[in-house]
Amino acid sequence: MSEAAEAEVLDIPQVYTHHVFCCFTQRPPMHPRGSCGANGAQPLWERLGKKLEASGRRDIAMTSSGCLSFCQAGPIMVVYPQGIWYTPKTPEDIDEIVTSHLLGGKPVERLIIVPRI
Ligand code: FES
Repeated sequence: MSEAAEAEVLDIPQVYTHHVFCCFTQRPPMHPRGSCGANGAQPLWERLGKKLEASGRRDIAMTSSGCLSFCQAGPIMVVYPQGIWYTPKTPEDIDEIVTSHLLGGKPVERLIIVPRI
């Protein structure tokens, strides 16, 4: 891609300040790949959705996704446009991500994972 084309792509306005993708994949408990669902994702994503709705912030979106490929580390969520990957384990982790990162703009370092591809 040429520099001009790349600059044009980067200038596309963002619809949301933050767009969160949460893995809703559920595999059987003993599946060799594991899954976010088997690791307890569902109640965490429900909490995240309720927190975002309660915030009234229409510029923050949450979308359910399929497998994001890092199943064993799940539950997995990723926040764009920054591309920050989180692996929250508790309701308090969700609260901190919402308050600190999504509403406050400060990522929660202790919950970030860096996927290896
Ligand atoms: S099942 Fe969630 S990342 Fe694969």
